[in-house]
Amino acid sequence: MKALVLAGGSGTRLRPITHTSAKQLVPVANKPVLFYGLESIAAAGIREIGIVVGDTHAEIEAAVGDGAAFGLEVTYLRQAAPLGLAHAVLIARDYLGDDDFVMYLGDNFIVGGINAIVSSFGRERPDAQIMLTRVGDPRQFGVAELDADGRVTGLEEKPAQPKSDLALVGVYLFTPAIHEAVAELKPSWRGELEITDAIQWLIDEGRRVESTAITGYWKDTGNVADMLEVNRLVLESLEPRLLGTAEGSELIGRVVVEEGAVVEGSRVVGPAIIGPGARVRDSYVGPFTSIGADCVIEHSEIEYSIVLPRASIEGVGRIESSLIGHDVEVTPAPTTPRAHRLVLGDHSKVQISS
Ligand code: TTP
Repeated sequence: MKALVLAGGSGTRLRPITHTSAKQLVPVANKPVLFYGLESIAAAGIREIGIVVGDTHAEIEAAVGDGAAFGLEVTYLRQAAPLGLAHAVLIARDYLGDDDFVMYLGDNFIVGGINAIVSSFGRERPDAQIMLTRVGDPRQFGVAELDADGRVTGLEEKPAQPKSDLALVGVYLFTPAIHEAVAELKPSWRGELEITDAIQWLIDEGRRVESTAITGYWKDTGNVADMLEVNRLVLESLEPRLLGTAEGSELIGRVVVEEGAVVEGSRVVGPAIIGPGARVRDSYVGPFTSIGADCVIEHSEIEYSIVLPRASIEGVGRIESSLIGHDVEVTPAPTTPRAHRLVLGDHSKVQISS
């Protein structure tokens, strides 16, 4: 069994970060989201893995290398343009040969790994197996319809009127039958070869398509809100450790201060991670925050945010729910006259920083 990991795409929902970087390398608790997927694949006993890359191929290749660090043998497969998930299978045809494979979307985050589904697929070998999870608003997802036995009877991509609340998770298992389906596809209205259409083709041909419902946590980290939410979740299970230094500072709860990081005169309330070589001075770092390597945070407050390596935030009050890119500089604007408007009850006590 091989794995096919999709790490191309255009990443429009994460612009401008994706103008210069691969979205699969946005860090979650200071580790690229893609690495969690690679670890799950290795843990499921798979060794050979093809990674589909697009414009950001150099960055992905620099980060993952030959895969040895994960116990994987990586082959890079260049997709000339992001023409759809099924197009990625098409260009991987020769690499995949006649092997079964797990297709894993490189920006998806699944708690609990894929061991169980990979082994059940190996035993049963349906033509395809998809993973489903219940979601609040299925209209933004691929949605599956099941019969009474749990067999998949239909799939729809982002339906206006969903027939169920079961969304497709970004992990699929296929036998080589999928290649017959992909060869028959025509681009959809959005100009892409859709994997849902390929699976629907298998269903229409009477092939066996099974589903497994997952109850654990899953997120597609395609937008900032989901990215921050996954970061929150991973930070929750952080083991506190102090490898750098913390002077005149308060570290509360699950706080990791990495090698070479310096925290001075600051208050860090976990869960939070301060990356290697970062400097936090006279600042407040609040819960669910990841500060990347070599960042500088001075005279500022930041909470529920991800800051990528080498960014600096100096003298800007409070930042929340933010994703801040590599080498970004955030500084205060020149002060203009401003006023506070207040409706205060009798005996109120208010502190205002002027
Ligand atoms: P998506 O998030 O569905 O697509 P996208 O990357 O184009 O993002 P956006 O919708 O914000 O523009 O892709 C899921 C994963 O598959 C992601 O890791 C990118 C990857 N991918 C490819 O490798 N090739 C492709 O042709 C497409 C569409 C996606």
